[in-house]
Amino acid sequence: MRVLVLGSGGREHALARALHRDPSVTALHCAPGNPGTAAIAENHAIDPVDPTAVAELAGRLRAELVVVGPEAPLMEGVADTVRRAGIPCFGPDAEAARIEGSKAFAKDVMAAANVPTATARVCESEAEVHAALEEFGPPYVVKDDGLAAGKGVVVTEDRAAAVAHAAACGRVVIEEYLDGPEVSLFALCDGNSAVPLLPAQDFKRAYDGGEGPNTGGMGAYTPLPWAAPGLVDEVMSTVVRPAVDELRRRETPYVGVLYAGLALTAKGVRVVEFNARFGDPETQVVLDRLASPLGPLLQACAIGGLEPAFRPSWHEGAAVTVVVAAEGYPASPVKGDVIGGVEEAERVPGAYVLHAGTKIDDEGRLVSAGGRVLNVVGSGPDVAAARAAAYEAVGRIELRGSHHRSDIALEAAAPA
Ligand code: AMP
Ligand code: GLY
Repeated sequence: MRVLVLGSGGREHALARALHRDPSVTALHCAPGNPGTAAIAENHAIDPVDPTAVAELAGRLRAELVVVGPEAPLMEGVADTVRRAGIPCFGPDAEAARIEGSKAFAKDVMAAANVPTATARVCESEAEVHAALEEFGPPYVVKDDGLAAGKGVVVTEDRAAAVAHAAACGRVVIEEYLDGPEVSLFALCDGNSAVPLLPAQDFKRAYDGGEGPNTGGMGAYTPLPWAAPGLVDEVMSTVVRPAVDELRRRETPYVGVLYAGLALTAKGVRVVEFNARFGDPETQVVLDRLASPLGPLLQACAIGGLEPAFRPSWHEGAAVTVVVAAEGYPASPVKGDVIGGVEEAERVPGAYVLHAGTKIDDEGRLVSAGGRVLNVVGSGPDVAAARAAAYEAVGRIELRGSHHRSDIALEAAAPA
């Protein structure tokens, strides 16, 4: 099958890598892709957020499947346009993608489907903001209602900071604070059925020990050796299937990956957020473990007929990814610095490097071009081995001013 992957980050490099090793994928294209995908696919310099440009390219390539990586094209209706052109598309229509694009919409779906989540108030005035902060008490959780690339959320003990964030956003969702470890679970959906992938854990704060500002994610690992064996089945029956059923009932069937961001609280599983796309960087580790071919799975979602009882097969062992971030990330990442050591890093057994924010400059050098520059992945028989491989490889990367967390998967790697 001929496949076109939209996006240019580490998640898209991981998707392209998994599709590249799938023998049923006969032609692999990325738009725009990055220097990492260029090695395994043909890159096309179009704007992935432009529905007409994407549908035109997919038609010209005679693509049999378009896989949408990031959220922005989904919100712009790229999946709607591609499907209207008669091309199977992995990714929800704009209407269904509001599960990510609007916190208020997501809360409404969850309420209708009885999905457990933090109690929340949608606030538009200062008086409503104050009332909600009073109701829930500290720590305060204030979320911009719109898309903010994971950066629209403030969790703080400081009431003045909570009020200031609300004032800066306009319409906000203020909610109960959820305590407990976070888990990301991705479910592949064809509008009717949903099939889970491996659960993963992401590290959202910029610095070690969970300090510093929220980011898109600084690292991830899978599987979760500490998670209860029934966790995935429980999330599928209490969260994913009810949400998918509710979206179908609303005549906006959900096609693509439903990303459930969960908190495992003392009171049970609660949804922190839904996303309408694969998580980044969790996807990098989940796909590292995938043994089943990815193409037919994504295609079954896009054209319908996903077998509800199907479970993908997985490689034994674990994967860990560490994000190498640019100086100044997340506030104001510095771009254009030369990247060295990628080949050396890939000589570490079990390790490889995914490109997240890189480009080739005018002089032909690999340089940083985004906040999260590289995702260094390590795999091994367990989390400790995977982690050791990832960090040994990270140590070989040279990027002036870069930073990374040194505690990714640290607790999970400790002997039980
Ligand atoms: P979101 O964009 O909704 O995923 O929020 C980003 C991050 O903020 C989450 O991954 C959590 O770490 C944190 N967060 C969001 N909502 C809550 C909540 N209700 N309680 C505690 N932490 C939260
Ligand atoms: N890793 C968090 C996200 O993709 O939103």
